[in-house]
Amino acid sequence: MIDDWFEDGHVDILSVGGGPGSDICGVLEYLEKEAKRRQADLSVDVVRLDIEDQWDGVFDDVMERFFPWASYRTVHLDVNDGFDLISGESFDLVTASYLTSELSTEACLNLADEVDSVLVDGGVLMINDRPEDVVERNIRSIFDRIELSYEERFLNRWAGYSYPNDIATVVGPKFNMKSSMFVGVKR
Ligand SMILES: C[S@@+](CC[C@H](N)C(=O)[O-])C[C@H]1O[C@@H](n2cnc3c(N)ncnc32)[C@H](O)[C@@H]1O
Repeated sequence: MIDDWFEDGHVDILSVGGGPGSDICGVLEYLEKEAKRRQADLSVDVVRLDIEDQWDGVFDDVMERFFPWASYRTVHLDVNDGFDLISGESFDLVTASYLTSELSTEACLNLADEVDSVLVDGGVLMINDRPEDVVERNIRSIFDRIELSYEERFLNRWAGYSYPNDIATVVGPKFNMKSSMFVGVKR
């Protein structure tokens, strides 16, 4: 897949429930490294969907500061109402990070149908969330509904940030990242 993206010189990315953009940052950082390693150009279009507007400013700041080479836009919608606002668009990669745990089982199945309608053949779906039985079951049901074969991994490692002790005590950041990660390709 990633080879195809570099061959085309372009990739369209959709982040569902994008919030401040953590998953988008992870993907863009990875693509930036790959572009350097391959000594290739890749143009990137990102669409961030979110029901809320409270993260818009933070997201814009992060994109302008760290990824000025990527095009992006935000669309506000409730995934429970469907993807009408982006209908007709298609994406090579769809990510949903810590969204499914905020949705009911039924809403996850509806989300699967909406994702299916915008994910290209050969496209990649990447979902990560809390490692809890019900959340993982809902994520598997999304992949099964779209009939995507997928792999899952449990990630548990230090998040890679350090803070002075006095600040960490007050703020109480999570230092350890525990996440269930699911990735599948649409064939
Ligand atoms: C826990 S945050 C995760 C944000 C980001 N993906 C991350 O991993 O840091 C969940 C995001 O999903 C959004 N969200 C929750 N329910 C939604 C819905 N029904 N439709 C669209 N976005 C939703 C929230 O507004 C929030 O920004």
